[in-house]
Amino acid sequence: MFRLVLLGPPGAGKGTQARMIAGKYSIPHISTGDILRSNIKEETPYGVEAKGYMDKGELVPDELVIALLRTRLDEEDCKTGFLLDGFPRTVAQAERLDNYLKKRGCRIDMAIELDVAEDILLKRMVGRRVCRVCGATYHITHMPTRIEGVCDICGGETYQRADDTVETVHNRFIVYHKETAPLLDYYQTGGILNRFDGSKDPETIFESIVSVLGA
Ligand code: AP5
Ligand code: MG
Repeated sequence: MFRLVLLGPPGAGKGTQARMIAGKYSIPHISTGDILRSNIKEETPYGVEAKGYMDKGELVPDELVIALLRTRLDEEDCKTGFLLDGFPRTVAQAERLDNYLKKRGCRIDMAIELDVAEDILLKRMVGRRVCRVCGATYHITHMPTRIEGVCDICGGETYQRADDTVETVHNRFIVYHKETAPLLDYYQTGGILNRFDGSKDPETIFESIVSVLGA
């Protein structure tokens, strides 16, 4: 049973590793970015409020994201573990998460950081394509779909995220350094931070993570 947090700048490969880790350890993969994008698609009040922030590469207000995350963590499948991807993103979010878990007699077991240089991240994001139906992630050169524009897994249409333009990506880096990077110290001080070289290929990174978490 694991309660894990995945940290790293935009495009570090959090979603890619999260799918592999969640699959291996049979825990739910919870991406606040995916939850927000699905709220935008369904035009919920949360989605309507979040859209403007996300399109500019700004963080969505803490209260909105925390409300969505709490609802998800209260679900039955999270009782025995989970993997958070993209949450927390501010020290305030991390403190709220710790309080939520403490009240339930548990805590985060490990924070996994994926470390990647910015020039690599930019290339990854502008080439990223995502399946509209199942959310699988591809890259036009590193991990292309077999048929252009069609998901290998479910046959859905792949698309480019609205926040994957060069200008928005630059703003997301600025926001990451200002708001999210301080979390690395937060988890380091808590003694649960593990850093991995996210510039390697996805399988090699996954094997390193498994070697720390245990088979
Ligand atoms: P979110 O969806 O979380 O985006 P992000 O953190 O910017 O990260 P990405 O999803 O862009 O990248 P990733 O690390 O998952 O990389 P991926 O595996 O896809 O958040 C989006 C927005 O939502 C935020 O800007 C904010 O507005 C809002 N938001 C979300 N959570 C919030 C919160 N808690 N508080 C406030 N606001 C919040 O990989 C990227 C590409 O690289 C892919 O093409 C992939 O195929 C490729 N790739 C992956 N790994 C490798 C590898 N090892 N080698 C080569 N290519 C690789
Ligand atoms: Mg992601």
